[in-house]
Amino acid sequence: MERTNYKQEINMTQPLMNRINELMSHYPADKKKSALLPILHEVQDAHENWLSAELMDKVAEILEILPIEVYEVVSFYSMYNQRPIGKFMFEFCHTSPCCLKGTEDLMDYTCGKLGVKVGEITSDGLFEVKGVECLGACGYAPMMQLGDFYKENLTEDKIDQLIADCRDDKIILHDK
Ligand code: FES
Repeated sequence: MERTNYKQEINMTQPLMNRINELMSHYPADKKKSALLPILHEVQDAHENWLSAELMDKVAEILEILPIEVYEVVSFYSMYNQRPIGKFMFEFCHTSPCCLKGTEDLMDYTCGKLGVKVGEITSDGLFEVKGVECLGACGYAPMMQLGDFYKENLTEDKIDQLIADCRDDKIILHDK
């Protein structure tokens, strides 16, 4: 894994540590590593939705595992971010069933509306467009994930509305 130059303030607050300890308590002491995925979610949510190498090192230290064991998980799953991201990340499923229903055109449309390419953040820091693998909602294609929620049966009109709602702060990103 490549170490980036992005700086991140690490803030392992007591509520966050309590949640981490609670997650680890679900497993035997010598199997704490099994809590890695949910712990990474909690830590990422508490750090503006991304994980620096230093933060991953911290997670490894807490779980008493090697940093590489954290890096390989973070770099495998698209739901973990290794750099700062736009506040509203439009994660379009671009696996075949969604593509057959027009995902690529919708991604182009969204990028055009926002004035960015895939993987770029808008200059106001609000939006980013990303392509991800099947999200298990193929029957509702084309679809995307926005925060913790799915947006399904997408059309250009729905994209327009989503962008407007994000700008008006009407979008809830997390379910807790
Ligand atoms: S192919 Fe898009 S959700 Fe499965």
